[in-house]
Amino acid sequence: MSAGQVRAELAPLRADLSIAVVRAKNPFNVGAIIRVAHSFLVREIFLVGSEPYYERASMGMHRYETIVPCPDEQALLAAISGRPLCAVERDHARTTLWEADFPRDVVLLFGSEDDGVPPALLAASAQVIAIPMYGINHSFPLAVAAGIVLCEWARRRDPRGRGRGPTEPVSIPGPGGAGRG
Ligand SMILES: C[S@@+](CC[C@H](N)C(=O)[O-])C[C@H]1O[C@@H](n2cnc3c(N)ncnc32)[C@H](O)[C@@H]1O
Repeated sequence: MSAGQVRAELAPLRADLSIAVVRAKNPFNVGAIIRVAHSFLVREIFLVGSEPYYERASMGMHRYETIVPCPDEQALLAAISGRPLCAVERDHARTTLWEADFPRDVVLLFGSEDDGVPPALLAASAQVIAIPMYGINHSFPLAVAAGIVLCEWARRRDPRGRGRGPTEPVSIPGPGGAGRG
């Protein structure tokens, strides 16, 4: 099948979520996120900024995805045209992944390795979500963070993802707060 035929077959299966990525200094990361996002059949992938990325890191999946270049933050806000933006950023988090709601048509926004999500986009976000971490490191690798959040989004919609959990609350060591589990 041609790439166009594959895209046409996948179109009705697309999820009601999109992702946005503030382009990273590491050109591998954006390609890796495109590969992850394809696995969850996101609707669109918005790339904010102009830094080059390594297409081959997407393992060819960029051919089947709608990738929307956004030269800057304002271009992203215009491109998502009112859809709810939810930043995924541990710093400045207002909720955790375990507690967050995912509105219909959500655009999940991931930051760059150096600076995270820029302040203007944090301010424009309906939610800022921390992925709980249990070790002493501060953040996950970017593509890992995207995979965790998209997996949680999918789990809540997949009948196989419901009704499973520990029989007793899990005790988490360390201080509480949005950044910890
Ligand atoms: C590698 S992080 C680095 C960003 C930030 N300057 C830092 O040091 O935490 C890059 C991006 O991954 C995502 N990320 C990584 N770990 C995360 C976590 N625990 N919670 C929420 N987002 C996370 C965020 O989108 C973040 O902007």
